[in-house]
Amino acid sequence: MTVTIVGAQLGDEGKGGIVDLFGDAADVVARYQGGDNAGHTVVHQGEEYKLSLVPSGAIRGKVGVLGNGCVVNPRTLFDELDTLRDRGLDPDVRVAERAHVILPYHRVLDGIEEEVKSETDDEVGTTGRGIGPTYEDKAGRRGVRVGDLLDSDVLRDRLEYVVPQKRALVEDVYGLDVADLDDPDAFDVDALFEEFREFGRRFEDDDMTVVAGEFLTAASEEGQNVMLEGAQGTLIDIDHGNYPYVTSSNPTAGGAAVGTGLSPGLVGGGEIIGIVKGYLTRVGSGPLPTELGGVVGDTPGYEEQGEGDDEELATYIREEGGEYGTVTGRPRRVGWLDMPMLRHATRVSGFTGLAINHLDVLAGLDEVKVGHTYTLDGEEMHTIPSTTEQWQACEATFRTFDGWDDGDWAAIAEEGYEALPENAQAYVEYIEDELDTPAYAIGVGPNRDEAIVRQRPF
Ligand code: IMP
Repeated sequence: MTVTIVGAQLGDEGKGGIVDLFGDAADVVARYQGGDNAGHTVVHQGEEYKLSLVPSGAIRGKVGVLGNGCVVNPRTLFDELDTLRDRGLDPDVRVAERAHVILPYHRVLDGIEEEVKSETDDEVGTTGRGIGPTYEDKAGRRGVRVGDLLDSDVLRDRLEYVVPQKRALVEDVYGLDVADLDDPDAFDVDALFEEFREFGRRFEDDDMTVVAGEFLTAASEEGQNVMLEGAQGTLIDIDHGNYPYVTSSNPTAGGAAVGTGLSPGLVGGGEIIGIVKGYLTRVGSGPLPTELGGVVGDTPGYEEQGEGDDEELATYIREEGGEYGTVTGRPRRVGWLDMPMLRHATRVSGFTGLAINHLDVLAGLDEVKVGHTYTLDGEEMHTIPSTTEQWQACEATFRTFDGWDDGDWAAIAEEGYEALPENAQAYVEYIEDELDTPAYAIGVGPNRDEAIVRQRPF
């Protein structure tokens, strides 16, 4: 069977920890979208691993697959694999031949486009990893796929076609000189060919490439447990998120089929777990109706760090929760839980279960608020509007819950749900009722033994 893990909010919901928790029973863990923009932290035997591309299950000896829906930067992939090997692990990672390759010019163009947009305050706040430009080339039928790295003639042909276009984009559209860029080799066919053909040889030598759909379907038919690990989250999905402040792929459950080659029936016949952080964070721009305080440069219209109660509370939660980007180190914007957002996420992906994380971070607060509905033009809304401008205009209507005390979370996790402070239980049950979906797990700390498990999806 399959279990699909989907971020229900804006990314950084603690998916890695849940993949780790439920992935114990998995034989294979596959990613279906995104690339090295995804930061996940896994704690294994007291050691902390920060990964951006390698599926987190690979740390625990599962077969890790990067599906065809992923965009793969081989520099990052081999760096991560080498680092893991240096630390004594032996990750088994397979890469879809149909996955697209992030080339150095994609990263350069990501940076240039953000810079240009920033002149009108329209930047997305991307991770700068070249994700958008790579998916653009995929849709534009000028991308380079992992399978192309295995064949010198094909790789050279592809690069000879596309690189002059990229060079012209930089010079003729953006008016920059390639020679002045930090990485002029990013636009040099020969340099790219040499480096990426070498990556192709390594893929071959290490027997790493697969036809993901065949590989995963066969695993599933043999009775293996396949976990599909979404990166990012629903509200930065290119279709169902807050366009244009989105990533360029589909983190929602539909993406799990398209991005692996497993059939929708197979994916839909399994479990789909929505990962919810007990509050909300956002990296980069875009609306956030339940935001507390703000982050200068990311929160629209927030020009100067304020000193009010909300700012103080945001700072407290940010520090307690370690809410800084795994990939970029940027401070995350912080807000209360947003139910219209979660109702939308639940409908889009059809969650069969939830994991609610970080309830320990909220411990010690007198009260905890939730954006229960929005008001837009005098009307009550239970879910989010489809345009960013309307969403920006939404005002959250809050419900207030009594807070809960800090505790020995590992002991509480071991004892089980009944040991969770009553007010925290009321919070969990409110979320379950509103989304009509049971919470399979409640995360009360960063370690694996700090999760209350009520039901295992495998
Ligand atoms: P990109 O994926 O680098 O193109 O960035 C597009 C948007 O998605 C930006 O707002 C990023 O901050 C956001 N984003 C990308 N990856 C993550 C992630 O793993 N967690 C949270 N936000 C992300």
